[in-house]
Amino acid sequence: MKSGRRPLVVGNWKMHGSRAENARLVEEMIGQYPPAPAALCVVCPPLVYLQDVARLLRGSAILLGAQTVCADAQGAFTGEVSAAMLKDVGCSYVIVGHSERRLLYRESDQAVARKFVAAQSKGLVPILCVGEQLAEREAERTFEVVARQLEAVLKLASMESLASAVLAYEPVWAIGTGRHASPEQAQDVHAFIRAQLAARDAKIAPLTRILYGGSVKAVNAAELFAMPDIDGGLIGGASLKADEFIAILSAARAH
Ligand code: 13P
Repeated sequence: MKSGRRPLVVGNWKMHGSRAENARLVEEMIGQYPPAPAALCVVCPPLVYLQDVARLLRGSAILLGAQTVCADAQGAFTGEVSAAMLKDVGCSYVIVGHSERRLLYRESDQAVARKFVAAQSKGLVPILCVGEQLAEREAERTFEVVARQLEAVLKLASMESLASAVLAYEPVWAIGTGRHASPEQAQDVHAFIRAQLAARDAKIAPLTRILYGGSVKAVNAAELFAMPDIDGGLIGGASLKADEFIAILSAARAH
């Protein structure tokens, strides 16, 4: 295990599935679940299916997460769902700041930071996504963008809170494109993120799990997960196929 960090593999189903398809997928996943995987496993279905999937997962080792959360606790926020509600239906994790939320729904760094804090305040583990777009990488602004996204959260949240949170580096150009970052490219950014944390608290930095996301498949998972600062993956498309997802889970090794 890397400095005591148990690997984590998270499936982000995005806006896919139906009650029948979810039941099939979960049944297959549970059927193929390895006896003692090195990694923890979480799935994040669409909000409307959370309770259903919570029931399907009962008795299994697979944990439940949500794809987003409202930053506010309750009130006149039509269409939103609070952290307490997610907890109430059985979630233990929630993704915040996914690039699709940032780009398509204009979530600012500050809004993402508030979601992070709201999630933790109700005992959910936030999975904070950071990552640059293609033009930003080409302009060699990757570190600047990632540092800015991280900084916004660290303004509101304590370093101690990072020890139990999860970070996910998801380069936008690698999401759903079939073009994953090379293990070295990903490791460079993961090491940068960990160094940013270490500059604030050298004791906390080695405890924080940092996942890689962006076109992770069974064929490339092992080489990505072998990198020293990559602690597992945030999986989109490949999490919708049980055999592929379980193969990715099995590629996570305790180092
Ligand atoms: P893909 O694995 O489909 O590239 O998606 C990655 C992602 O956005 C997970 O949150």
